[in-house]
Amino acid sequence: MIPNALVKEFRKAKNIVAFTGAGISAESGIPTFRGSGGLWEGYRVEEVASPDGFNTNPVLVWKFYDERRKNIFKAVPNTAHTVLAKLENYYNVWIITQNIDGLHIRAGSTNVIELHGNIWRVRCTSCNYKDINEDVPLKDLPPKCPECGSLLRPDVVWFGEPVYDLEKAFHVAENCDIMMVIGTSAQVYPAAYLPLYAKQHGAIVININPERTPVDDYADFSIHAKATEALSSLYQKLQEAFQEE
Ligand code: OAD
Ligand code: ZN
Repeated sequence: MIPNALVKEFRKAKNIVAFTGAGISAESGIPTFRGSGGLWEGYRVEEVASPDGFNTNPVLVWKFYDERRKNIFKAVPNTAHTVLAKLENYYNVWIITQNIDGLHIRAGSTNVIELHGNIWRVRCTSCNYKDINEDVPLKDLPPKCPECGSLLRPDVVWFGEPVYDLEKAFHVAENCDIMMVIGTSAQVYPAAYLPLYAKQHGAIVININPERTPVDDYADFSIHAKATEALSSLYQKLQEAFQEE
C-alpha cells in the first residue's frame, strides 16, 4: 500500500503538514458530511450551519449542535490521529484540520490549526466572551452569555463566514516538504487550495482517501484506503526505515 518511493520522500523530509477532513474521524464514529449517510443528508445546511439559520431559529441550531456534541463526546481518536501525533517525534508537523471535533489535540498533536473552529468552544453573539463548554447535554438551550446575557453560539465556522487562521495555514503549506491530504472531499474553498498551493511551492502531495477526489489530479501519491489503514502501514514502514539509519 505504501510505495518505497514514498518512504524515500519521508527520509528526506523535515516539515510535514497534514490537511485533514471529516474522513479521518469517520473511523472514530463521527459521520462525514457528503454522500449517503452523511451529516448534511436530512438537514438543510442553511438552517443549521449559517448565520441566517441561527438568527432565525437558534434553538434548532443548538439542538443540532447538542446532538453532534453527544456523538463527538463518545468518540476517541483513532490510529490515524495518533500516528500523526507520533510523527512529531521525527518531524516538524503541522495539522491543518477542517474538523471541529478536537480529536487531533486529544491524540496529542501540538501544532493544530482548526480552520472551522471547535465544537467545545462557545462565544457570545454580542460581546467578546469566549469559553470552553463541555456540558453534554447542554444545561441551557440555547445557552446565554454569563457576562451580558446575549445568546451564545458555537465557536465554529458556518457557511458564508471566513475560516480561522487561513493565513497561517497557507504559510505552513508553503513551507512543508510533504503535504498529506487525509479524508477530505476537497470541495470547500479556500481551504481546498492548500494542497495545490503546497505542491506549487515544491511539496510532495499525498492523498489518502478510499474515494477519488480532485486532489488525485495533481497528487504525487494517491493511497486509496481508509485513513487508519494507510497511516498505520506508513508508520510501520517509516519505523523500519528509521531503524536502518
Ligand atoms: P466530506 O464529507 O465532504 O468528505 C469526507 C471525505 O472522507 C470523503 O472524500 C470520503 O471519501 C472520505 N472518507 C470516508 N471515510 C474515510 C476513511 N475511513 N478514511 C479516509 N477518508 C475517508 O468532509 P470534508 O472534506 O471534511 O464545513 O468537508 C469539508 C467541510 O465541508 C467540513 O469541514 C464542513 C463541510 O460543510 C463546515 O461545516 C464549515
Ligand atoms: Zn456577551
